[in-house]
Amino acid sequence: MNNITIAIDGYSSTGKSTVAKQIAKHLGYVYVDSGAMYRAVTLYAIKNGLISEDDFNKEALVYQLDQIELSFQFNDQLGFAEMYLNGLNVEKEIRTLKVSSFVSKIAEVSKVRQKLVGIQKKIGQDKGVVMDGRDIGTVVFPDAELKIFMTASAEKRAERRYQELKERGDAITYEAVLQNVTERDYIDTHREDSPLVKAEDAIEIDNSDLTLNEQYTKILELVKMTLEGCE
Ligand code: CDP
Repeated sequence: MNNITIAIDGYSSTGKSTVAKQIAKHLGYVYVDSGAMYRAVTLYAIKNGLISEDDFNKEALVYQLDQIELSFQFNDQLGFAEMYLNGLNVEKEIRTLKVSSFVSKIAEVSKVRQKLVGIQKKIGQDKGVVMDGRDIGTVVFPDAELKIFMTASAEKRAERRYQELKERGDAITYEAVLQNVTERDYIDTHREDSPLVKAEDAIEIDNSDLTLNEQYTKILELVKMTLEGCE
């Protein structure tokens, strides 16, 4: 059977990565969390004093882009690849609300996007990949055989992310998470370069009222149909 490319885009905290990992595992495909790459660049910017509440030194970030080395390393126990920044595993650090609060500003910078999209295209050049993000079906893999666009109400998404962060032991409030989710939605859909938009040929799935299992079953069905169509 021919390998295909599966692009999953959508708003923040729609459960893209959960279902993308499940599908990749089922098919034996590579899963790539493109958001983790933007988060890793954000972590670099925070650690190097390039971005804070009231300052963002874009020029310095662009100048230092060559010094930012990103890679994914497969973790056998977890069953998916973890994000490494300059040789260090940053998988946990990149998921904090602090990183979330700056990441959309970092993702607006075209030079950052160029670098990350280049890496993403390379990883997916042989197909057999499930990638999730904001511009996967529109910019990274416009020829993907299957494109999914995930949505859910902001409240549902914030609730899910809040539970996730609370379970990790982060001291956060639901209100702060909801604010972050809506702020990022706004920046991601309004930026000039590669805004979050549903690709014309993407299939939209609103998972506000779907369980994880229902969502997985529905998307797996689409995958099977696409694979059959590609035979
Ligand atoms: O996990 P969540 O859905 O909240 O976000 P993420 O996928 O980790 O992405 C974090 C941020 O990176 C997004 O809010 C976007 O600003 C940016 N991003 C992007 O611009 N393009 C992508 N392909 C993936 C993420």
